[in-house]
Amino acid sequence: GSAGTSTLLVLGACGDLAARLLLPGLGGLLTQREVGDLFLVGSDTAEWSDDQWRQRVSESFATVSANGKQADEVVRSCRYLRADVTDEDHLRRLLDACTGQVTIYFALPPAVTARACGLLADLGVPEDTRLVMEKPFGTDGPSAHELNELVTRLVPENQVYRVDHYLGMSTVLNMLGMRFANRMLESVLDAENVSSVDIVFDESLGLEGRAGYYDGAGALVDMIQSHALQVLALLTMEAPSTLGAEDLQDAKSRVLRATSLWDEDPVRYSRRARYTAGTIGERRLPAYVDEEGVDPARRTETFAEVVVAVNTWRWAGVPFRLRAGKALSALRKEAVITFKGPRWVPEGLAGYEQPDRMRIGFDPDLVGLDFNLNGPGDPFTVDRVSLESPSGPGDLPPYGEVLAEVLGGDPTMSVRGDQAEQAWRIVAPVRAAWRDDRVELEEYPAGSDGPGAP
Ligand code: BG6
Repeated sequence: GSAGTSTLLVLGACGDLAARLLLPGLGGLLTQREVGDLFLVGSDTAEWSDDQWRQRVSESFATVSANGKQADEVVRSCRYLRADVTDEDHLRRLLDACTGQVTIYFALPPAVTARACGLLADLGVPEDTRLVMEKPFGTDGPSAHELNELVTRLVPENQVYRVDHYLGMSTVLNMLGMRFANRMLESVLDAENVSSVDIVFDESLGLEGRAGYYDGAGALVDMIQSHALQVLALLTMEAPSTLGAEDLQDAKSRVLRATSLWDEDPVRYSRRARYTAGTIGERRLPAYVDEEGVDPARRTETFAEVVVAVNTWRWAGVPFRLRAGKALSALRKEAVITFKGPRWVPEGLAGYEQPDRMRIGFDPDLVGLDFNLNGPGDPFTVDRVSLESPSGPGDLPPYGEVLAEVLGGDPTMSVRGDQAEQAWRIVAPVRAAWRDDRVELEEYPAGSDGPGAP
């Protein structure tokens, strides 16, 4: 490589994450934005040749129709190095192969990432190295804390990128504009006006062959501990004075520190369930426990719901329901803010039973308002109307956005270390109660709307 080149070293290069998300994100980024010379090095334990890796890269790029000089050049110059990242000599060889400013992307399970970081801490890395980590960051609060100590021994915190691809979604990013660029919205988002908030990540996809990862994680860790709490933080934080990384991260951290399970009572305020066999559209899904690679004894949930409180001046008393599930009837990813009823309704007005709602859709990206308005017929009997506007879309897929920040050296939308620890703290009482079987593991047929009313 030439001077000024930077290197993106992908560890776990042969894995599913690299093929499905990381490389397509990179392809999109290289097509849309100027990133400079980039040397892409893939590494994994498999015996791959440079050509096999190149093939993988170009196939992944093709899924997003990546094109142009930058993308072509990355494909042409990329290399593959077989390595076991739990071996110090192998790591040294990998570092030696890098050139210019180095970004190490750990597309690896948390335990392997932790071991590799331990070895790198002994080896030392160039001063401006950036580290990119996938969720789950650690496996609980204490292990996340240890991992934070380890990685910040390697490089300063602002060179550590804990990826949450929801923070790369255009509507999630747009929540900042929506909340802080509109007086009308800014002034009603508080406990005075809001009765409850739902953050919902319903998916119609099942396990999709990811048992190796998912069966050890489950819905709570996979979606709530990570994405849902980050969305909650952006939705509930106070306005930072700037959108610079430090101000924004401070604002998010403060609100996460104020967040805890409702009444600290996992028995009443958490639910878990897993899917049984069923049909979604045309697809027949086996029961979760019959999926390849699942160990039924683990009792992993594919659906999780928790209610949390945000104990701040703005939000105290408002329940935030966070829910995520797989193999449900329909995809639904949104935050729904339900407002209180009107303070006073003159006698003679009818039809206003339903509360106003604001919906922030993450897939598809949209913002909607449901409210009561005079429709056809009797002017004093209101009807329900919805205003809806698409939002975004950004020019990059979420992983492209994430990589843009990493390669641009801007940690604004990364998850800061303390937030990862806070997120583990928030879900800890739920995990403990589930482990001790104090909360029933319910079931729901694939293709249903989830476990029925409790
Ligand atoms: C990932 C989870 O982080 O997010 C998956 O590991 C989940 O289980 C996915 O399916 C959902 O993301 P998206 O972008 O499809 O909403």
